[in-house]
Parts: sequence; structure tokens; C-alpha cells
Amino acid sequence: MQIIRTISELRAWRATRGRVAFVPTMGNLHEGHMALVRAARANADDVAVSIFVNRLQFGQGEDFDAYPRTLQADADKLSDLGVAVLFAPDDAELYPHTTQHYNVEPPGLQNELCGRFRPGHFRGVATVVLKLFNIVKADVACFGKKDFQQLTIIRNMVEELNLDIQIVPVDTGRAADGLALSSRNAYLSAAERAQAPQLYRELCTIRDALAVGRNDFAALENNAVAALNAQGWQVDYVEIRCAADLGVARGDERHMVVLAAARLGQTRLIDNVEVER
Ligand code: PAF
Repeated sequence: MQIIRTISELRAWRATRGRVAFVPTMGNLHEGHMALVRAARANADDVAVSIFVNRLQFGQGEDFDAYPRTLQADADKLSDLGVAVLFAPDDAELYPHTTQHYNVEPPGLQNELCGRFRPGHFRGVATVVLKLFNIVKADVACFGKKDFQQLTIIRNMVEELNLDIQIVPVDTGRAADGLALSSRNAYLSAAERAQAPQLYRELCTIRDALAVGRNDFAALENNAVAALNAQGWQVDYVEIRCAADLGVARGDERHMVVLAAARLGQTRLIDNVEVER
């Protein structure tokens, strides 16, 4: 596996390749990322993975400085999986203009759900993803469903800006007790880690209620919030949305998604489950 640090070298590599699948990451890779890489391999001849901790998507007081940077261990894992290229630019390579730069403003959805609690986050995500798409010029890019709002915003961006890339969604990887795999799980204390699967269980309770036809969305959401708060979580939101576009669910959708974000101590966790009916 080649480790490439500059845009010009990455472009030179791309020019020699056929069908390429791309997995953008911020590193600190876990089994959930490995599933993205496997999906990428199934979709192309060559896989390119990027590792870049994107400061634009971190708000003030968030964990940009503390975010685990584990490049060598990550490179070893990717190499074992047959990845062709690891693109690991530094900050100055992607953002040479420190005072001003262009931004991608995802309309509407960027201020809902996680966007209400992380202003500017999805602007930062969309901006870096568009830059990476323009650099890597992949045919396909794989994104995890765990970040369902991110996936939806990226799909909208690809459609609205007519980007020539196919987005492949990949199911959320989970630990045996149901906790969604996330780099931020590493921040949990032992006691918090034992409690963390409750978030998934509350989402499953709502999923099961929806699946048998309940439509009292507010009551289902409020019950989950109360159950989590009672166990010491600080809940940002639990919401039932339409899976196709994350619009507010009306009750006649066949495909919905229940999304949540909540803090255990200092750690903010997100998760979601889909419901077909
Ligand atoms: O999902 C992530 O790890 C990041 O948001 C992404 C897509 C790599 C952009 O920085």
C-alpha cells in the first residue's frame, strides 16, 4: 500500500488506475471502517482511503485536539485489507488558505437533528468531502449508515451538484451488546461503556412499536428520552424521520429511521435504526 501525502501525487496515482472506490475517514480505524473498506473492494478494482482529521467539522469546545491520531496502526490495518492507497494529507495541503476558504452550505438539513447541537458541523463535512471527491476522482464512495444524517447530506450534495460519483451506504457495525462502533467509544469509562448499549435498546423499542403500527411518534420519542435521562444520559434528541430524505415522519412512510444523539459523561454518542412497514 502506498501512503500519499500530497494532492499532486494522488492525482498522478489516480491517472494510472481503472475503477476506484473511495472511503473517507478521520482515522482511528475500527471494525466499522473495515466494513466500509470491504464494501469498497467489492465495488472497484482499487480502493483509496483517506485519513484526515477535518478541523472544519469540529465546533468550539469539541474534541479536535483530542481526536485519536493513530496513523501507523491505521496504515497496517488498511494494508492487510488490500487497500491500494492511503491518502493522508496534512492541514496545509487541504486548507492552504488559513483565513478564507470556500464552503459548501448544505441547505435545510444541516440545521436539524445533530446540526442543532453542532452548528457548522455539516458545512465542514460537506466542504471536505467535496474537496476529497475532486481530488480522488473515485467512481464510488462508501459511507456508513451510522452517520445517517451525514450520508443523507452527502447524497443530496452529489445529486444537487451533479457529482459523477456513486454513493454506497454501508450498514452500521455493532459490538456484541449492540453498541454502534465509533472512534468516540474509546472515550467511555468502563462504567459508561457498560451503559452505552442502552441508546441502541431504546431505539429498538421504538422500532418495534413502529413496526406493529404505532403512530404516536411524540410519545415514543418522549418515552425514550425519559428512559435515557433517568439513567444519567443528557439527550440531545430522539426523533423518528422519513428514511428517504430525513423529512419529519407523517406516519404514511414505508421506510423510517429513528435517530438519537445523547451524552454519557463527556462523550456524545449517536445511533439510528431503520424501520420498514
Ligand atoms: O465520517 C467521517 O469520518 C467524517 O465525517 C468524514 C466523512 C471523513 C469527513 O471528514
